[in-house]
Amino acid sequence: MAEVNLLRALPHTARDVNKRERAKHPGIVAESRKFGEMYFDGPREYGYGGYRYDGRWMPVARDIIAHFDLEPGMRVLDIGCAKGFLVRDLMQVCPGLEAFGLDISEYALTHCHPGVAGRLHRGSADRLPFPDASFDCVLAINTIHNFDRDGAKRALNEIERVAKRPGRTFVQVDAYRTPAEKALFESWVLTALYHDYPQRWLRLFEVAGYTGDWYWTILE
Ligand SMILES: C[S@@+](CC[C@H](N)C(=O)[O-])C[C@H]1O[C@@H](n2cnc3c(N)ncnc32)[C@H](O)[C@@H]1O
Repeated sequence: MAEVNLLRALPHTARDVNKRERAKHPGIVAESRKFGEMYFDGPREYGYGGYRYDGRWMPVARDIIAHFDLEPGMRVLDIGCAKGFLVRDLMQVCPGLEAFGLDISEYALTHCHPGVAGRLHRGSADRLPFPDASFDCVLAINTIHNFDRDGAKRALNEIERVAKRPGRTFVQVDAYRTPAEKALFESWVLTALYHDYPQRWLRLFEVAGYTGDWYWTILE
């Protein structure tokens, strides 16, 4: 188990926290949590503000493949894959890699990258529709914090269950290191239900029996 920033190559995303905080009300949060068109491709107040393929996941895919020594023929699952951009880029970087995605959003899956048609499954991270030990590598990037703490624990259990061997898994979750970062995060957050200080996430990993790697999404 190790803390590793596998998303270090992603470009920095501009966030107007004050604008989001002014706009945020329960109706917007409820709409965002549907993970539908408004969340992905509606105005920024609802989520991504337009989620389009631009190649930004390519260097991340390279880093993931190098970190986990992935090779052609191996099977990778991206939980919370959205439109499948990372799934597509993993297969571009490593031809022959068998990459798959899973997401709860019908909208994202029906608007996926054409290169991953047939590779994305609809389902929930806390009840994966796959047999035990069916993937060489399992990723869940900015996804399991969309559950409450118990749900995040179930999702971590599921990651362990579908991984062929312990350790070749990665989760990235919302966190903060100081009260100021917590306040900033809470101004911005739309969909996450469980977010916490790293030490408390690490405790959850431990009680869930999670044996893989991790990193934090922290607003600064
Ligand atoms: C913040 S996005 C992250 C997407 C992508 N992994 C990334 O990092 O850009 C969260 C994703 O999790 C999906 N999601 C939310 N709840 C989920 C659940 N219970 N099971 C699977 N996917 C879920 C959403 O539809 C969305 O695609």
